[in-house]
Amino acid sequence: MLSLLVFACFCAVFVTDALPLGPSDTPVNDRPIIGVLTQEVVDEDMLRFGKTYIPASYVKYLESAGCRVMPIRLKQTLVEYENIFKTINGMMFIGGAADLQTSDYARAAKAFFRLAVEANDAGDYFPIWGTCMGFQLLTVLVAGQNLLTNTTAENLALPLNFTDEAPTSRMFEDFSSELMKALSQEDVTGNFHHYGVSEKTFRGNDKLDQFYSILSTNIAVNDVEFVSTIEGRKYPFYGVQWHPEVNRFQWNPNLNFPHSKNAVRVSSLLAEFFVNEARKNMHQFSGPGEEAAALIYNYTPVYVGNISGYEQSYFF
Ligand SMILES: *[C@@H]1O[C@H](CO)[C@@H](O)[C@H](O)[C@H]1NC(C)=O
Ligand SMILES: *[C@@H]1O[C@H](CO)[C@@H](O)[C@H](O)[C@H]1NC(C)=O
Ligand SMILES: *[C@@H]1O[C@H](CO)[C@@H](O)[C@H](O)[C@H]1NC(C)=O
Repeated sequence: MLSLLVFACFCAVFVTDALPLGPSDTPVNDRPIIGVLTQEVVDEDMLRFGKTYIPASYVKYLESAGCRVMPIRLKQTLVEYENIFKTINGMMFIGGAADLQTSDYARAAKAFFRLAVEANDAGDYFPIWGTCMGFQLLTVLVAGQNLLTNTTAENLALPLNFTDEAPTSRMFEDFSSELMKALSQEDVTGNFHHYGVSEKTFRGNDKLDQFYSILSTNIAVNDVEFVSTIEGRKYPFYGVQWHPEVNRFQWNPNLNFPHSKNAVRVSSLLAEFFVNEARKNMHQFSGPGEEAAALIYNYTPVYVGNISGYEQSYFF
């Protein structure tokens, strides 16, 4: 009885600490945790470190904006994913290589996506961000089919070609007009993909068109115009076909990672934007012990700069 009471008290303190009220009495979670799905290692050189991984660049990108990262393993049950969902404040689908419909990665992403839609419908704000393959996944999850075609832009830094919806978007709300101009003129977005969703296909698919606003497009090497930035019209879901994290956290000299002052700013602001979205979510662990055990701090990244385009990677 006593220990139960103590736990209850401790829990209450924990709750109060995690959820201070903002000036307008809107609850704000200043200790957000973002879930990141691990990915299966496909590169043979990396297999000796583990079967699944998360490149450290994505983790640093998120952490830099004031959140903590929870790695989420593949092949868990739906019940386990539901329990994890109740403890995290947002989710990032990272880049990589996996089948977008049949892989364990796709299955896990689908489960979290469904939970996020249901939560948002019930007034429980839960943001999702997808980068590169994560972006592609966000289109598959909404369209219910894989609409990817050849939109090759491999190792290519580009400016964004903004649509009319970009200036009033949530994603770019905190960008100054100078930075928007830089984004539309300077090569500050790193592209590393062979497939994507063409602008024509995207707008021609009712489900995609109704679900997401297209904020930018780009022209691929094969002259196809592809969608490069999206945000949910109703849901706090965001996707970029390009890689904002490389601007600050990847340095391989053979790869066109944008590192200019404006490129770094773009990367910082987008990370901050997404973490601010996660601050609107109040999910939490049942206690600090459970929380600490789930975080990525329990793992040590490994140097992989000599065997991959990443500098460091976590393995699980
Ligand atoms: C930008 O998009 C417009 C409208 O789709 C297109 O006509 C134009 O060629 C694009 N420009 C670049 C630089 O991609
Ligand atoms: C995609 O298009 C580019 C440019 O035309 C071509 O070089 C490449 O082989 C194509 N890739 C695939 C997978 O079809
Ligand atoms: C890469 O670097 C690590 C750490 O310095 C070293 O142990 C490993 O042998 C290197 N791998 C290759 C393929 O050069």
